[in-house]
Amino acid sequence: MKNPEILDSIHRLVSAQPDATSLLAEVVSLLHRERPHYHWVGVYLLQSEELVLGPYVGKPTVHTRIPLNQGICGAAASSGQTLIVDDVNADPRYLACSLETRSEIVVPIIHKGRVLGEIDIDSDQPAAFTPQDRKLLETIAGLIADKLS
Ligand code: SME
Repeated sequence: MKNPEILDSIHRLVSAQPDATSLLAEVVSLLHRERPHYHWVGVYLLQSEELVLGPYVGKPTVHTRIPLNQGICGAAASSGQTLIVDDVNADPRYLACSLETRSEIVVPIIHKGRVLGEIDIDSDQPAAFTPQDRKLLETIAGLIADKLS
């Protein structure tokens, strides 16, 4: 699927899914299925100043709760900005989930200026995430933000 088709599918999921958890589960599995270089796709939700892992597809991770001052995930959530890390091993903030991971993108989910959580994607390819990936994922984060609020 091209990016516009992915967005159409997400629009349909947003209308059809009755609750946030099933929506997020559908969204992460759609992204994982449609983009083979997205090796790990998950959503963290902000709960009491901590990022708590929600639905994900990929290998299990030890990082099921991440404080806001830790990791690339914490940095993205506390700044409210998308972070793309082309080489995770060169970033001192990086919390490793899998030895194979080479690059990562984290996109905050923001509703009315408040960070509700984030989409986190790891790739086994270095520098896997392009400006088009960023645009796609930021649009998706905006679409799901309403449903989480
Ligand atoms: N790498 C993240 C931790 C989460 S795992 O990628 C699933 C980080 O540095 O915050």
